[in-house]
Amino acid sequence: MSDKKELRIGLIGGGFMGRTHTNGYKRVGDFFPELAYRPILKAVCTRSPDKVKAFAEQWGYESYETDWRAVIARDDIDAIDICTPNDTHAEIAIAAAAAGKMILCEKPLSRTLAEGQQMVDAIQQAGVPNTVWYNYRRLPAVTLAKQLIEAGKLGRIFHYRANFLQDWTISADVPQGGTGTWRLDVEAAGSGVTGDLLAHCIDTALWLNGSITDVSAVTETFVKERTHALTGQKQKVGIDDACIFHCHFENGSLGLFESTRYARGHKALYTFEINGEHASIRWDLHDLNRLEYFDHRDESIVRGWRSIHVTDGDQPYMNKWWVPGLSIGYEHSFVHQVADFLKSLETGEPCSPTFEEALETQKVCEAVLESAATRSWKETGVGELVK
Ligand SMILES: NC(=O)c1ccc[n+]([C@@H]2O[C@H](COP(=O)([O-])OP(=O)(O)OC[C@H]3O[C@@H](n4cnc5c(N)ncnc54)[C@H](O)[C@@H]3O)[C@@H](O)[C@H]2O)c1
Repeated sequence: MSDKKELRIGLIGGGFMGRTHTNGYKRVGDFFPELAYRPILKAVCTRSPDKVKAFAEQWGYESYETDWRAVIARDDIDAIDICTPNDTHAEIAIAAAAAGKMILCEKPLSRTLAEGQQMVDAIQQAGVPNTVWYNYRRLPAVTLAKQLIEAGKLGRIFHYRANFLQDWTISADVPQGGTGTWRLDVEAAGSGVTGDLLAHCIDTALWLNGSITDVSAVTETFVKERTHALTGQKQKVGIDDACIFHCHFENGSLGLFESTRYARGHKALYTFEINGEHASIRWDLHDLNRLEYFDHRDESIVRGWRSIHVTDGDQPYMNKWWVPGLSIGYEHSFVHQVADFLKSLETGEPCSPTFEEALETQKVCEAVLESAATRSWKETGVGELVK
């Protein structure tokens, strides 16, 4: 028998993120044995009775439901984990908060800023622990970038550049809506690459480089009509297929962001580069254990970009895993977020990004889409919550 406190999870959604989160809950106790809490896989919910039963059996959930309201109503659930398409986040989170449940919500927080604000109001009123799964912050190389910046290694920052490139929607035959392709349906997703991919880049940027004050954006929808998977009808496409924006940060640096699902050859190329007065850093999701670092203060004859393999025990999170030199992967970012959430329950400190912090990303996304629609610069209104 374990003397740890139980955190009884109700997982809503059993797709891609349902699997990554469950893997996180299952692994966390093995690699973070010092934590006072342990997750219990109490219930999973999806709409299909066959699929949810199979998911529960495969991943080891004690029970399953086909209506998320039934999970929220249960007394034996402490935390609701929202892994469903974006159009469901607000309704589930607001109901979960009203029931006093802790909430872990997938990104983007919401489809729109107004929806996100309602979610923030609900969790503030309920006072429940919460977090949003911007998991890239918790890859060791990205966390190390944060540490280097906070230590002042880069000096004054001039440029922040980020890309998130994919190529899976180039064919006009890809439908919109329904299972698997809900991201192309504006009703389900809220927006296209802005909410889906740039939201990640914006969250990392706000975390690493502070507030974004104003933006100027262009968006494009290359395929104007697609068949809707649920109705079988050709319908106008309402999402942005590609988005490019530039911006000012509050610290005086300039930002340049690009995302598209039409970059043939790229599957999930998330990269960022930051140029400072003394040093620069760059990171690439396809080589996620490495952080590239250039320091102008190095002796000139050996000065150059160095590739730091972020696998040593004194680098973020790595003392929890194997021996120096051995890599970890994408899934570990979710294990780390579970660990940090459990730790936050012990300390009473928020697990960043909270709903309130994730709302700042929504403000930037909203300003980006408004800027593109009106072909003008837009203030973001991002405030003091950005750390
Ligand atoms: N953090 C990340 O890197 C990351 C990556 C992918 C997706 N996401 C986010 O995670 C969320 C889910 O994305 P995904 O890729 O896992 O989607 P998915 O399509 O793979 O899975 C969605 C799941 O939700 C279930 N579902 C849909 N409506 C439901 C309802 N009303 N009640 C119960 N279950 C319902 C579906 O049956 C399915 O199991 C989205 O908000 C997405 O933006 C985040």
